[in-house]
Amino acid sequence: MSAKQISVLLISPDEEIYSAIEGSLANQDNCKFTGQKDTVQGANGSAVSLTALHDVVLFDVDENSDAMLETAQSICDARMPNAIIIALAPEDLPLEKARQLKKLGVDDVLPRKAINEEIVPQVDAIRARRQAQLPAVWGGHATLGKVIAVAKSRGGVGSSLVAANMANELQCKEGFFKKKAANEVAVVDLDFQFGSIAALMDVEESDAMWRMAMEESIPDNAFLEQAMVKAPCGVDVLAAPSRYGPLSAIKEDQISAILDSLKRTHDYVVVDLPRALVEWITPVLAQADRLYLVTDVAVPSVRSARKLMDFYQAENPAIDIQLVASLEKKPLFPAAHHRAASKLLEKDFSYWVPKDDRTVRESVDRGIPLQEVSHRAPATRAIKKLADETRISMPPRVGK
Ligand SMILES: Nc1ncnc2c1ncn2[C@@H]1O[C@H](COP(=O)(O)OP(=O)(O)OP(=O)(O)O)[C@@H](O)[C@H]1O
Ligand SMILES: [Mg+2]
Repeated sequence: MSAKQISVLLISPDEEIYSAIEGSLANQDNCKFTGQKDTVQGANGSAVSLTALHDVVLFDVDENSDAMLETAQSICDARMPNAIIIALAPEDLPLEKARQLKKLGVDDVLPRKAINEEIVPQVDAIRARRQAQLPAVWGGHATLGKVIAVAKSRGGVGSSLVAANMANELQCKEGFFKKKAANEVAVVDLDFQFGSIAALMDVEESDAMWRMAMEESIPDNAFLEQAMVKAPCGVDVLAAPSRYGPLSAIKEDQISAILDSLKRTHDYVVVDLPRALVEWITPVLAQADRLYLVTDVAVPSVRSARKLMDFYQAENPAIDIQLVASLEKKPLFPAAHHRAASKLLEKDFSYWVPKDDRTVRESVDRGIPLQEVSHRAPATRAIKKLADETRISMPPRVGK
C-alpha cells in the first residue's frame, strides 16, 4: 500500500531544533520538510501563508510577546483541514498560557529544549500514523465527518432500510431537481456475511472487503477509492462482499483505518452493523458519534435490544444510543407494551418508522431510495425526520 505524502513545516529561529528535525525526516520517503529559520512575527506574514500548505506545523512561541496568542491564532486559522499544529515553548511556560494555546486550536505544546526526547519522536510518530492512515489521535474534530452506526435487535427488523435511506437524506440535496448534494455521505456495510446495502442502493457487490480480510492489509485511501462505488442516489457505498468469508477474518485495525479515512473525505459515515458481537465492532463503537438501535416493540426484540445496549455501553460508556421503533407508527398514547418496552430499555424511543409495505416493497425491489418512490409516504417521512434531526444536531464538516 502506498504511503501518504506528508509535509512538515518548522518555523523557528533555533538552529538546533531545525537540524534535528530536518535530520530525522531526511531519510523518510514521501515526507517533505520545509524550514523557516525565524519567528512567526519575524517572518512577517509568510509563516502564516506557508502554514496553509502543510500537514504538520511546528512553530516557536515567544512567551514574552503580547502578541503570542494573536500569532498562534493566525497560525491555527490558516491551517489546512486536519493539519496538526504544535507550539514549541519554554519548559516553564505557565499552564494557563499552554491552556490558552490549546483553546485556540494548537494540538500540542512541547518543551523547546526536549528536542530529542519529545519533539523529534512526536513528529516522527505523527508522520508514521498519518502515512499508515491509522486513527488520528490529533485530528481536528470540526474538520472530520461524523460516524453514525446503525444496529438491530433482530434480523429483518428494518435497520438496513433505515441506514440506506438515512444516508440518502443526509446528503441534503439542493436545487430544483434535488440533484446537487450539499454533504458527502458514505455507507459502510459491515454486515460482512449478509449485507443488503448493495441491493438497497443498486450497486454491485464488491470483493474488496473480502480481499482486505484475506490479505490482512490495512486499507488506505487508494484501497477505498477503488473499493467504493457511487450509488445512483449519490452516496458512496462500501458494499459487503458477494462471497462468504468468516467473521473473524476482519481485524479491528482494518475497521479503524476505514473509518479514519472516510471521516476525512465525507461529512457522514453511516455504518450498517451486523447483529453478531464481533471484536471488530469495537472501533465502530469507539468512533461512533451516535448509534441508532433499530428494534420492534415485541418482547423478544426489546430484550435483545436491552442486552445490546448494555454491551455497547460497556465498550464505550459515552456512546450516544438512540432507539428507533421500526414497523410501528408513533402511538398517540403509548399502549402498555410501549411503556413496558421503554421501562426495560430505560429510554424512550426517539423515532418511529411505520410499517409501509407498498412504498418499502417498491423501493427494495427497484433499488431506489424511499424518497424516489414517494416523498410523502409514511416511511419516507419518518426516516427523513430522523436524518434531518441528525444533521442539525451533528453538523457537517467545516472548511471542507
Ligand atoms: N418500515 C417498513 N415497512 C414495511 N416493510 C419493511 C419496513 N422496514 C423493513 N421492511 C421489510 O423488511 C425487510 C428487511 O429489512 P432490512 O433489510 O432493512 O432489515 P435488517 O434489519 O437490515 O435485516 P437483516 O437482518 O437482513 O440485516 C425489507 O426487505 C422490507 O421488506
Ligand atoms: Mg441488514
